[in-house]
Amino acid sequence: MTELTHPLATVPRDELLTRAEADPLRPRFHFVSPAGWLNDPNGVSQWNGTYHLFYQYNPEGAFHHRIQWGHATSPDLVTWTDLPVALEPSAGPDADGCWSGVLVNDGGTPTLVYSGRFEGKELPCVAVGSPDLQNWTKDPGNPVIAAPPAGVEISAYRDHCVWREGTKWRQLVGSGIRHRGGTAFLYESSDLRSWDYIGPLCIGDASQGDPADTDWTGTMWECVDLFRAGQGSLGSVPTDNAPDVLVFSAWDDGETRHPLYWTGRYAGDAFEPEALHRLDYGGRFFYAPQSFEDESGRRVMFGWMQEGRSDAAMVEAGWSGVMSLPRVTTVANDGTLEFAPVPEIEKLRRNHVTVPGQVLVGAGRSLETGVSGNQVDLELDLQLAPGAEVRLGVLASPDGVEETLIVLSRAAHGTPVGTLRLDRTRSSLDPAVDVEDKSGPVPMMDGRVRLRVVVDRSAVEIFANGKPLTARVYPTLGGERVTLAATEGSARLLTFDAWTMAGIFESTRSLLPQGK
Ligand code: FRU
Repeated sequence: MTELTHPLATVPRDELLTRAEADPLRPRFHFVSPAGWLNDPNGVSQWNGTYHLFYQYNPEGAFHHRIQWGHATSPDLVTWTDLPVALEPSAGPDADGCWSGVLVNDGGTPTLVYSGRFEGKELPCVAVGSPDLQNWTKDPGNPVIAAPPAGVEISAYRDHCVWREGTKWRQLVGSGIRHRGGTAFLYESSDLRSWDYIGPLCIGDASQGDPADTDWTGTMWECVDLFRAGQGSLGSVPTDNAPDVLVFSAWDDGETRHPLYWTGRYAGDAFEPEALHRLDYGGRFFYAPQSFEDESGRRVMFGWMQEGRSDAAMVEAGWSGVMSLPRVTTVANDGTLEFAPVPEIEKLRRNHVTVPGQVLVGAGRSLETGVSGNQVDLELDLQLAPGAEVRLGVLASPDGVEETLIVLSRAAHGTPVGTLRLDRTRSSLDPAVDVEDKSGPVPMMDGRVRLRVVVDRSAVEIFANGKPLTARVYPTLGGERVTLAATEGSARLLTFDAWTMAGIFESTRSLLPQGK
């Protein structure tokens, strides 16, 4: 059967790689697909020491269509080797796309559980892998669940979280119940093939809050991810008071909104939510996160950094979508999650620069830090006086016309919580790119803030006392200056370390890698 070409496939296939590689806005030390389209992280795992990252991939061009599973491996979560596409649509229940899913270890057999898309709907499918995880065979019984639960009016039904509990497998499938809210349906199986429906694990209330709010839970939950944040496995009696966490990406009528998480307790067949939290203040710029526990016991999370430029601009660029740096996920004393890039990333640091500690005074001139680069890792320790506001500028053009501002502020009175804000209004002269303000609260005991900013051309990841804000920026002037100023009140700069970051892809990549 000949494949009909998609109307957006306007860039010839053999030009995609050259266009993607020539784009100065393409990140150099974040994982990106060889060219074409990338969205969600899938099957994130460590298998016999090697890290595996699969991802939603369209090698036909930088648009979402007939999705395959791209595949890359890494010894250290830093450098990645492309492997052949793991899953590709074929006649049957995934004829229109192999959508998101996970990897589990079925008694030594690598097994993928994913959403097969066919005729506008998704259903759960299974594939088993060769011992090197390079060749995948789809189960002849696919789809392994024939239909969503009967008698429930659902908005959508897809994406999977699968874990072993006692002698059984359990699975969540993300969904939404019409006129109620997002949900995750719980199933049980002894063989990953035959599944008994148990019921909704918990149900969100879409009528709560304003749909414009950054913590609105949406009408459907994509990419649900349930894990125990502390010691012990899901379903066991907790030995510490660390919560169970249910991560989901709030979706509404085709719109990818933002990742959120409930902390609470999963016991029996239900998840009892205690509190709802925003997972990343960048909203849709850190979407569809998926996590796993690595062999050293760390919980590591990846997310999809969507684009903030138009569909046409992505197609022209020949590539779309960035994978976040892998993040170590831990629990803070207040029971919320904290994040930091895995320390392995520090291997890429070059040219260490230290900015001397000093007092920054409001409305003073901005400090020439001497730091510059469009691939940088910045670590600052600051102490803000009550009422202070500090601005760190990155990707600033020589004339200062373009600059991306990371703004920290502390309230004038009492509260130990301040604000992190990303101001992109001057990030780009291109009027078509997304410049919406992003912000969120940051615990700030005594005004102390540990700020980490990772800039990789158009990809920006910010962590303020462990609270992340991820976004994309599209500077047009090639600016690389880093500036620092107090714009209100005063603050002490205690330490400031900066590095430029080496790239991770040295040789030319292939759209359809052949493997080793
Ligand atoms: C999230 C998502 C998933 C789906 C996949 C399709 O971004 O929409 O729900 O499985 O992407 O590529």
